[in-house]
Amino acid sequence: VSLAPAAGPDAGFWWARDDLGFKDGRLHLAGHDLATLAATVEGPLHVYSEARIAANLGRLHAALAEIGAPARVYYAMKANRFEPVLRALARRGLSGVDVCSPAEMDRALACGFAAGDVSFTGTGVSNRDLGRLLAQPDLTINCDTIGMIRRIGERSPGRAIGIRVNPELGVSYGGAERLTYAGDAATKFGIYREQWPDALAMARVHDLTITSLHFHVGCGYLTRELEAWDAAVGAGLAFVDDLPDVRTVNVGGGLGLPHRSTDAPLDLSRWAEMLRRRFATRGLTVAVEPGDYIVKDAGVLLLQVTDVERKRDVTFVSVDGGFNLAPEPAYYDLPCEPVACQPRSFDTAAWRPMTVAGNINEALDIWAHAHPMPELREGDRIAFLNAGGYGASMSSNHCMRGEFTEMLLPG
Ligand SMILES: Cc1ncc(COP(=O)(O)O)c(C=O)c1O
Repeated sequence: VSLAPAAGPDAGFWWARDDLGFKDGRLHLAGHDLATLAATVEGPLHVYSEARIAANLGRLHAALAEIGAPARVYYAMKANRFEPVLRALARRGLSGVDVCSPAEMDRALACGFAAGDVSFTGTGVSNRDLGRLLAQPDLTINCDTIGMIRRIGERSPGRAIGIRVNPELGVSYGGAERLTYAGDAATKFGIYREQWPDALAMARVHDLTITSLHFHVGCGYLTRELEAWDAAVGAGLAFVDDLPDVRTVNVGGGLGLPHRSTDAPLDLSRWAEMLRRRFATRGLTVAVEPGDYIVKDAGVLLLQVTDVERKRDVTFVSVDGGFNLAPEPAYYDLPCEPVACQPRSFDTAAWRPMTVAGNINEALDIWAHAHPMPELREGDRIAFLNAGGYGASMSSNHCMRGEFTEMLLPG
């Protein structure tokens, strides 16, 4: 349950910022009235702000400029692969792209990224996948298993490769297990320390040069998780000593953002300071591959109220889209804050707890429980915040309710 903000159209909402808030009583993103935008299309609408994407990327670059080592950003396009978003990023030229499938690679190339600015970090890579990946000589391929090293060596001896390692330390939003990619329990991601000699030997057999080291240890970390993240980076870096040809260390993505009023944003200065301490004297390029940090808070999902009905002691607000359009709240408990686009009253003390429910026949299809909302009626619009990452890209056609429109607000 969100803390009730102070009364007044622009006062006190924890999520409000320069480009997101109420103007004349109507919710705006990047200067656009969201209820009006929603009315221009049929059904659910994912809207993204290019200006916010650029601001997020700019903030990250400013932090990376402080680390005393060359740095590169590879946007993890699994978070949002909407072509206008990719084209806008390619035009700006401030990032490469990390892809996790050949189809993502093809889309990145088609949207204007050069193969030399694309890295592949995937799991369960088939020989068919490899055929397509290896056809791009400039693509960086991060190997996730010894078998993948062998199969690349058999097909493309002498190639430069990256290796993804598992530092056995992980982080995530609030310590959520499902968002943690490395830790005590074995995960499918990366090559473990005890496999390391075999991995190096396999690369040697095929004359593969290991030019990059990669680790990604979890998603959604915030300031409260930074110490643990720093320890994971230290553990990952321990692998570098065995790699005479390594040029780049990719510390993965996972940079988080607030989802609840109680979340403090990620302190990027502290983050950069940790990287500076780890990298300043090593002569290596630092790569990062965030997805969410670039796009998540740049996007909202706009849905329309279909019913408002009290059932027992709960007021249910039903909307015309479900968790299949933005699965992370249901899968990972990463909420998309529902915000009425035109509240009838800003007397937030009078707002009532409402349970906002989607239109999918699954009990877990609840957007928010007992969330303080103003009076709502059929036809009203609700914006679900933080839907710009892993919303559309993870969506499914469950119940054949998978249709939606996407829109990039240029800026
Ligand atoms: C290898 C890899 N890199 C980067 C990312 C991006 O993570 P995030 O969007 O949390 O920054 C992921 C997400 O799953 C990943 O698996």
